[in-house]
Amino acid sequence: MRPVRIALFASGTGSNAMALVAKAQELSKEKIDVAFVLSDKSAAPVLEKAQNAGVRTYLVEKKTDRKTHESEVLKLLREYHIDWIFLAGYMRLLSADFIQQFRHWHAGAEQIVNIHPSLLPAYPGVDSIARAFNDGVKESGVTLHLVDEGMDTGRVLVQEIVSRKEEANLAKWTQQFHEVEHRLYCQFLEKVALGSQDTVYFKETP
Ligand code: GRF
Repeated sequence: MRPVRIALFASGTGSNAMALVAKAQELSKEKIDVAFVLSDKSAAPVLEKAQNAGVRTYLVEKKTDRKTHESEVLKLLREYHIDWIFLAGYMRLLSADFIQQFRHWHAGAEQIVNIHPSLLPAYPGVDSIARAFNDGVKESGVTLHLVDEGMDTGRVLVQEIVSRKEEANLAKWTQQFHEVEHRLYCQFLEKVALGSQDTVYFKETP
Protein backbone atom coordinates (compact mmCIF):
# COMPACT_ATOMS: atom_id res chain seq x y z
CA MET A 1 0.00 0.00 0.00
CA ARG A 2 1.30 3.44 -0.86
CA PRO A 3 1.69 6.11 1.84
CA VAL A 4 -1.04 8.62 2.56
CA ARG A 5 -0.04 11.82 0.79
CA ILE A 6 -0.41 15.13 2.56
CA ALA A 7 -0.08 18.75 1.46
CA LEU A 8 0.45 21.44 4.09
CA PHE A 9 -0.82 24.95 3.34
CA ALA A 10 0.70 27.77 5.41
CA SER A 11 1.08 31.53 5.10
CA GLY A 12 3.28 32.41 8.06
CA THR A 13 5.57 31.16 10.79
CA GLY A 14 4.75 27.55 10.24
CA SER A 15 5.12 26.13 13.72
CA ASN A 16 2.18 23.79 13.11
CA ALA A 17 3.42 22.84 9.66
CA MET A 18 6.86 22.02 11.04
CA ALA A 19 5.41 20.01 13.93
CA LEU A 20 3.51 17.97 11.33
CA VAL A 21 6.63 17.53 9.19
CA ALA A 22 8.56 16.25 12.23
CA LYS A 23 5.74 13.88 13.13
CA ALA A 24 5.51 12.56 9.58
CA GLN A 25 9.26 11.95 9.52
CA GLU A 26 8.96 10.06 12.80
CA LEU A 27 6.11 7.94 11.39
CA SER A 28 8.13 6.99 8.28
CA LYS A 29 7.69 7.54 4.58
CA GLU A 30 5.97 4.19 4.05
CA LYS A 31 3.02 5.40 6.07
CA ILE A 32 2.80 9.09 5.39
CA ASP A 33 4.40 11.42 2.90
CA VAL A 34 4.33 15.20 3.19
CA ALA A 35 4.49 15.79 -0.55
CA PHE A 36 4.87 19.53 -0.27
CA VAL A 37 4.31 22.69 1.73
CA LEU A 38 2.43 25.34 -0.18
CA SER A 39 2.37 29.02 0.66
CA ASP A 40 0.70 32.04 -0.87
CA LYS A 41 3.24 34.43 0.69
CA SER A 42 6.81 34.70 -0.58
CA ALA A 43 8.02 36.05 2.77
CA ALA A 44 6.48 33.25 4.83
CA PRO A 45 9.18 31.81 7.13
CA VAL A 46 7.59 28.37 6.74
CA LEU A 47 9.06 28.08 3.22
CA GLU A 48 12.67 28.16 4.37
CA LYS A 49 11.95 26.01 7.39
CA ALA A 50 10.35 23.33 5.23
CA GLN A 51 13.22 23.40 2.75
CA ASN A 52 15.71 23.02 5.59
CA ALA A 53 13.76 19.97 6.73
CA GLY A 54 14.04 18.51 3.22
CA VAL A 55 10.43 19.14 2.23
CA ARG A 56 9.48 20.37 -1.25
CA THR A 57 7.83 23.79 -1.26
CA TYR A 58 5.61 25.68 -3.68
CA LEU A 59 4.77 29.34 -3.70
CA VAL A 60 1.50 30.13 -5.42
CA GLU A 61 0.86 33.81 -4.92
CA LYS A 62 -2.50 35.31 -5.62
CA LYS A 63 -1.57 37.60 -8.48
CA THR A 64 -4.64 36.94 -10.56
CA ASP A 65 -8.28 36.16 -9.83
CA ARG A 66 -9.27 33.52 -7.28
CA LYS A 67 -10.25 30.95 -9.90
CA THR A 68 -6.86 31.08 -11.65
CA HIS A 69 -5.04 30.93 -8.32
CA GLU A 70 -7.05 27.94 -7.15
CA SER A 71 -6.70 26.08 -10.42
CA GLU A 72 -2.90 26.34 -10.08
CA VAL A 73 -3.16 24.89 -6.58
CA LEU A 74 -5.53 22.12 -7.74
CA LYS A 75 -3.05 21.21 -10.48
CA LEU A 76 -0.38 20.55 -7.85
CA LEU A 77 -2.76 18.53 -5.69
CA ARG A 78 -3.64 16.39 -8.69
CA GLU A 79 -0.04 15.99 -9.81
CA TYR A 80 1.02 14.66 -6.41
CA HIS A 81 -2.15 12.61 -5.79
CA ILE A 82 -2.73 14.40 -2.52
CA ASP A 83 -5.12 12.61 -0.16
CA TRP A 84 -5.34 15.16 2.62
CA ILE A 85 -4.79 18.91 2.92
CA PHE A 86 -3.77 20.19 6.34
CA LEU A 87 -4.20 23.96 6.66
CA ALA A 88 -1.69 25.39 9.11
CA GLY A 89 -2.10 29.13 9.36
CA TYR A 90 -3.18 29.45 5.72
CA MET A 91 -4.64 32.93 5.51
CA ARG A 92 -6.86 32.38 2.52
CA LEU A 93 -10.37 30.99 2.33
CA LEU A 94 -10.89 28.09 -0.05
CA SER A 95 -13.83 28.48 -2.42
CA ALA A 96 -16.80 26.10 -2.52
CA ASP A 97 -15.70 25.05 -6.04
CA PHE A 98 -12.21 24.20 -4.83
CA ILE A 99 -13.54 22.15 -1.92
CA GLN A 100 -16.06 20.35 -4.10
CA GLN A 101 -13.43 19.50 -6.69
CA PHE A 102 -11.09 18.06 -4.07
CA ARG A 103 -13.95 16.14 -2.48
CA HIS A 104 -15.01 14.78 -5.86
CA TRP A 105 -11.52 13.33 -6.38
CA HIS A 106 -11.98 11.46 -3.10
CA ALA A 107 -15.39 10.00 -3.77
CA GLY A 108 -17.15 12.57 -1.61
CA ALA A 109 -14.75 12.27 1.32
CA GLU A 110 -13.97 15.40 3.32
CA GLN A 111 -10.20 15.47 3.61
CA ILE A 112 -9.30 19.07 4.27
CA VAL A 113 -8.63 20.00 7.90
CA ASN A 114 -7.69 23.10 9.83
CA ILE A 115 -6.53 23.92 13.34
CA HIS A 116 -7.80 27.04 15.02
CA PRO A 117 -6.93 28.67 18.38
CA SER A 118 -10.39 29.08 19.89
CA LEU A 119 -13.34 26.95 20.89
CA LEU A 120 -15.27 27.47 17.67
CA PRO A 121 -17.79 28.88 16.97
CA ALA A 122 -16.33 31.45 19.41
CA TYR A 123 -13.63 33.74 18.03
CA PRO A 124 -13.40 32.70 14.37
CA GLY A 125 -11.00 34.55 12.05
CA VAL A 126 -7.79 36.32 12.98
CA ASP A 127 -6.27 37.28 16.36
CA SER A 128 -8.48 34.80 18.22
CA ILE A 129 -6.09 34.37 21.14
CA ALA A 130 -5.62 38.10 21.70
CA ARG A 131 -9.34 38.82 21.37
CA ALA A 132 -10.21 36.18 23.95
CA PHE A 133 -7.42 37.46 26.21
CA ASN A 134 -8.64 41.05 25.96
CA ASP A 135 -12.17 39.91 26.75
CA GLY A 136 -10.81 38.41 29.95
CA VAL A 137 -12.16 34.91 29.30
CA LYS A 138 -11.04 32.26 31.77
CA GLU A 139 -11.11 29.48 29.19
CA SER A 140 -10.61 29.28 25.47
CA GLY A 141 -9.16 26.40 23.48
CA VAL A 142 -8.14 24.76 20.26
CA THR A 143 -10.41 23.33 17.57
CA LEU A 144 -9.52 20.83 14.87
CA HIS A 145 -12.15 20.94 12.18
CA LEU A 146 -13.03 19.99 8.64
CA VAL A 147 -12.89 22.83 6.16
CA ASP A 148 -15.79 24.25 4.25
CA GLU A 149 -15.98 27.51 2.33
CA GLY A 150 -16.82 29.55 5.44
CA MET A 151 -14.45 31.20 7.88
CA ASP A 152 -13.67 28.46 10.44
CA THR A 153 -17.16 26.98 10.09
CA GLY A 154 -16.54 23.33 9.10
CA ARG A 155 -17.55 20.35 11.22
CA VAL A 156 -15.63 20.12 14.49
CA LEU A 157 -13.54 16.98 14.98
CA VAL A 158 -11.74 17.69 18.23
CA GLN A 159 -11.69 20.50 20.80
CA GLU A 160 -9.47 20.97 23.82
CA ILE A 161 -9.76 23.65 26.48
CA VAL A 162 -6.85 25.97 27.21
CA SER A 163 -7.50 27.61 30.55
CA ARG A 164 -5.96 30.84 31.65
CA LYS A 165 -4.03 31.23 34.85
CA GLU A 166 -4.44 34.51 36.74
CA GLU A 167 -0.81 35.46 36.21
CA ALA A 168 -0.58 34.45 32.54
CA ASN A 169 0.30 37.20 30.09
CA LEU A 170 -0.66 37.07 26.42
CA ALA A 171 2.70 35.68 25.29
CA LYS A 172 2.58 32.85 27.83
CA TRP A 173 -1.00 32.03 27.02
CA THR A 174 -0.26 32.01 23.28
CA GLN A 175 2.53 29.54 23.92
CA GLN A 176 0.05 27.24 25.68
CA PHE A 177 -2.23 27.32 22.64
CA HIS A 178 0.58 26.42 20.29
CA GLU A 179 1.58 23.44 22.41
CA VAL A 180 -1.99 22.11 22.33
CA GLU A 181 -2.32 22.80 18.59
CA HIS A 182 0.86 20.90 17.77
CA ARG A 183 -0.13 17.95 19.91
CA LEU A 184 -3.70 17.67 18.57
CA TYR A 185 -2.65 18.13 14.96
CA CYS A 186 0.12 15.52 15.23
CA GLN A 187 -2.25 13.05 16.88
CA PHE A 188 -4.67 13.54 14.02
CA LEU A 189 -1.88 13.10 11.45
CA GLU A 190 -0.97 9.83 13.09
CA LYS A 191 -4.56 8.61 12.87
CA VAL A 192 -4.66 9.52 9.20
CA ALA A 193 -1.33 7.78 8.61
CA LEU A 194 -2.55 4.62 10.32
CA GLY A 195 -5.87 4.75 8.51
CA SER A 196 -7.60 4.79 11.87
CA GLN A 197 -9.24 8.16 11.56
CA ASP A 198 -12.62 6.94 12.76
CA THR A 199 -14.82 8.36 10.08
CA VAL A 200 -16.34 7.02 6.89
CA TYR A 201 -14.73 9.73 4.88
CA PHE A 202 -11.22 8.37 4.52
CA LYS A 203 -10.69 7.29 0.93
CA GLU A 204 -7.63 7.06 -1.27
CA THR A 205 -7.11 9.23 -4.29
CA PRO A 206 -7.73 7.05 -7.36
C1 GRF B 1 -2.11 28.91 14.60
O1 GRF B 1 -2.51 29.54 15.79
C2 GRF B 1 -3.25 28.15 13.98
O2 GRF B 1 -4.12 27.64 14.92
C3 GRF B 1 -3.94 29.22 13.17
O3 GRF B 1 -2.90 30.00 12.64
C4 GRF B 1 -1.78 29.93 13.52
C5 GRF B 1 -0.61 29.54 12.71
O4 GRF B 1 0.57 29.52 13.47
N1 GRF B 1 -4.79 28.65 12.14
P1 GRF B 1 1.86 28.78 12.90
O5 GRF B 1 2.22 29.49 11.59
O6 GRF B 1 1.54 27.36 12.68
O7 GRF B 1 2.90 28.99 13.94
